[in-house]
Amino acid sequence: MSQITVSPSQTQFAAEDSETILSAAIRQGINLPHSCQSGVCGSCAATVVSGDVVQSAEYDDYVLTEEEIAAGTVLLCCTQARGDVVIEMPSYAGHKALTVRTLPARIADIETRGDMAVLTIALPKAPPFVFHSGQYMEILLKDGSRSYSIANAPHESGTLEFHVRLREGGLFSPQLFDGRLKKGSIIRVRGPLGSFYLNEDGAHKPLLLLATGTGFAPIKSILQHLAHTQPNRRVHIYHGARTAAGLYDEAALQQLLAQLPNARYTPVLSNPDEGWTGATGRITEHILNDYKDLSDYEVYACGSTGMVLDCKTALTTQAKLPTNAYFSDAFTAHV
Ligand code: FES
Repeated sequence: MSQITVSPSQTQFAAEDSETILSAAIRQGINLPHSCQSGVCGSCAATVVSGDVVQSAEYDDYVLTEEEIAAGTVLLCCTQARGDVVIEMPSYAGHKALTVRTLPARIADIETRGDMAVLTIALPKAPPFVFHSGQYMEILLKDGSRSYSIANAPHESGTLEFHVRLREGGLFSPQLFDGRLKKGSIIRVRGPLGSFYLNEDGAHKPLLLLATGTGFAPIKSILQHLAHTQPNRRVHIYHGARTAAGLYDEAALQQLLAQLPNARYTPVLSNPDEGWTGATGRITEHILNDYKDLSDYEVYACGSTGMVLDCKTALTTQAKLPTNAYFSDAFTAHV
């Protein structure tokens, strides 16, 4: 057993030899910044100040530069401790971070739309559940767990909405489609988790919100939050899908757009249906066409790893977006 100290918040927790430092933190309700948990997104990068660590899993080469590795930067989702370790992670707010809770929840509604289900759950009334727009929950199952972004805004406390794509043979999603889970069923959830959420300090900046597929869920949460708190903020939403069926929540989005006078919306289809007159191809090309200078913007991207990484590279190298103004949550598919 090792003791992990996170600086500068001075948060401390124990980690087993067999678990990554990130899993140990999450297991104990310490919400260190993370997203993919699989060495793809870089959100869990931290610097080892003292102590020994080992790399326990492969990660994608582009996530850390050679300079970062030489400076002691590691990915906590791919690193185990060997003895007591001090790490530096300035992005972790320590005790100010929200408390992670495990809760029973009652299914209030399941609405299926093709291979998509919009799942709404009701939480216990007290104490109120607090989260940031963009965060996700784990749904706890007998044989594991599945993670889904929350699709509604924090002020609508008491219920949570999730967008679940059917994955044949999957651990959770088929139960929403075949009647094993229905209105009134009780499930267990854990959260809020994840460091992808609207940065309230950058409140004056215009926003680009990018999504592919069900990556629209946290973007919807952010839009609802903006409609509630800053309806006049400038925002441009790009939603990429293969066909029009992938734009599965258009009615709710149109309602939100009606409450956001400075919002623009560009749906982009990669495999457009006959008669589609909107944008086609990849969302990256359209953003670069629409914006040459994003130096004063913040960008939030959620969806496929390909889109999240493409947009980061393209917007920071070709459209002057500062690297620290790009926030992302890359989905890795689980059955
Ligand atoms: S790289 Fe560790 S959480 Fe994504």
